Amino acid sequence: MKKLFLLHFIIFNLCAIEPISPIPLDIEVDHAKANLGKKLFFDTLFSRDNSTSCFSCHDVYDGGADAKIVSIGVEDKKGNIQSPTVLNSRYNFRQFWNGRARDLGEQIHGPIHNPVEHDMDAKTIEARINEMVEYREMFSEVYGGASITYEQVMDAIVEFENALVTPNAKFDKFLRGELELDKDEKEGYVLFKKNGCITCHNGINIGGNSFQKMGTFMEYNEESDYPDRSKITTNPEHKNVFKVPTLRNISKTAPYFHDGSAKTLKEALGVMSKHNLGIILKEHEVEDMVAFLKTLDGEMPKILDIK
Ligand code: HEC
Ligand code: HEC
Repeated sequence: MKKLFLLHFIIFNLCAIEPISPIPLDIEVDHAKANLGKKLFFDTLFSRDNSTSCFSCHDVYDGGADAKIVSIGVEDKKGNIQSPTVLNSRYNFRQFWNGRARDLGEQIHGPIHNPVEHDMDAKTIEARINEMVEYREMFSEVYGGASITYEQVMDAIVEFENALVTPNAKFDKFLRGELELDKDEKEGYVLFKKNGCITCHNGINIGGNSFQKMGTFMEYNEESDYPDRSKITTNPEHKNVFKVPTLRNISKTAPYFHDGSAKTLKEALGVMSKHNLGIILKEHEVEDMVAFLKTLDGEMPKILDIK
């Protein structure tokens, strides 16, 4: 882990490669499917007791995650990990904290069947949705066919998720040469690179493209039992290894970390620099980096405006 870290550190600091790329302004989305998926995303029909929708834990109007330490699903049951954002998740190389789903199409089956999230099965979903005339009409227009299948329902939600991108962040405009950053934001970006944050948080999502250890330099909460990478690989060295989270819209997704332990960005930066870089940041460095991170807030996904 440390060797790879050094290699990235050298590449991103000595070579003139811009390690972050902007979100494209044109993305490929099937709008008819995505609009159908949008309606489904907000619908509690998918949960056993009609209490929970995807939106319950992923507030797409406010950062795409929820403000709880662990999410709450059907019958007020508690989950076992913090809810990550669904915004820009199409750019993550895997889904879930431990990457157990290859893509959004694979991920979607997780929450539906999870006994503490929606607690549903394909047959019940098909039975419920086919009873609703409005959905029958909408699906028939988009997919054809007389009755709605579970696969079509999942496909539509995934297409909605594909449309959940937040372009035109101030930082993206800076990357495209459209504006200058303020002094503190610019300084924050320099520190972000200089201190080595960029070794793990880079690419289009400023994260979301590798697995890394929480505690690369100093062990982090060894006693905990979260669904980390070791639960997939059974390799004990993968204890506390997670997919690096995206930092886009990070100012809106408190609390932070898989365990929701950091309440503010400042607190998260303190923990990150200590455990993953082995450094203690000065107060003004933290402030500048927070100013930089706020430039990663993008525009609301367009699909949310369309009625
Ligand atoms: C009860 C709260 C809850 C509900 C309801 C819920 N989720 Fe999640 N979602 C979570 C949590 C918690 C995770 C992280 C689980 C993990 O990584 O082990 C997650 C992870 C995800 C991810 C992966 C993001 C990433 O970066 O890895 C996506 C995408 C997602 N959910 C979409 C959905 C969709 C679509 C629905 C509705 C079908 C849904 N969720 C319903 C809480 C919820
Ligand atoms: C060795 C890789 C690595 C380095 C270096 C690193 N991070 Fe992280 N970062 C991670 C991982 C992995 C997580 C998820 C940790 C967890 O949830 O337990 C994370 C989480 C975060 C979070 C919380 C994200 C969320 O959604 O909860 C923030 C904010 C963050 N990092 C910022 C930074 C900053 C700023 C720096 C530099 C001071 C930095 N990181 C350096 C790997 C790294």
